[in-house]
Amino acid sequence: MQLYLDTGNVEEIRAAAATGMLSGVTTNPTLIAKEGRDFKTVIKEIVGILKKYGDDFTVSAEVSSTNWEGMYKEGLQYAAWDKHIIVKVPMTQDGIIAVQKFKAKRIRTNVTLCFSPNQALLAAKAGAFVVSPFVGRVDDHGGDGMASVKEMRKIFDNYQFETKILVASVRHPKHVLDAALAGGDIATIPFKVFEQLFQHPLTDKGLAQFQKDEAAYKAHLAGGQK
Ligand code: E4P
Repeated sequence: MQLYLDTGNVEEIRAAAATGMLSGVTTNPTLIAKEGRDFKTVIKEIVGILKKYGDDFTVSAEVSSTNWEGMYKEGLQYAAWDKHIIVKVPMTQDGIIAVQKFKAKRIRTNVTLCFSPNQALLAAKAGAFVVSPFVGRVDDHGGDGMASVKEMRKIFDNYQFETKILVASVRHPKHVLDAALAGGDIATIPFKVFEQLFQHPLTDKGLAQFQKDEAAYKAHLAGGQK
């Protein structure tokens, strides 16, 4: 399963990319607004950071229009900025029309704000590159976001859809684990969760013990050589 960072913060992206574990970045209007910077500048800077680590990555840039004509116009501009940029469109009737127009132009899309397996089915039929089920927001409302991801996996496998499942709205490491168990192709995660994936208290405890034992052993050897 690939890991993407869900952020518009370039410092977070630099830090995560340096680990070699990052395969892409997703942004949305909220995340971009949080940074208070120009949209195009931020997207191009993110692309520049990821390019230092290879050529196999995507950066999702979201359209703000709600009609397909507007989405198409915006998306054509984004795609012209760099080949790694994929156009993020909302899961609406207009969004699904836009996906098909982009597909005809060989421009990749990310269908966002997807909350049901039927919505994912439509996105796949339209030829989306990825579909983004928002698991955290479903859980926030007392639902089971990951149950939908499992159903999406089954549907996509039944019909050999090439559309990837990008598990989004991730809140904690358990979501990442469950996304991998459910067969998600990608999980897009906040930086805090990315850092948490590396951590375990027993790793810290074990490392401290090894260092302590090694230091004692070296001191013992040094003492014996006198
Ligand atoms: C996905 O691409 C979205 O940017 C994101 O995962 C939304 O997550 P949120 O529910 O934490 O806002």
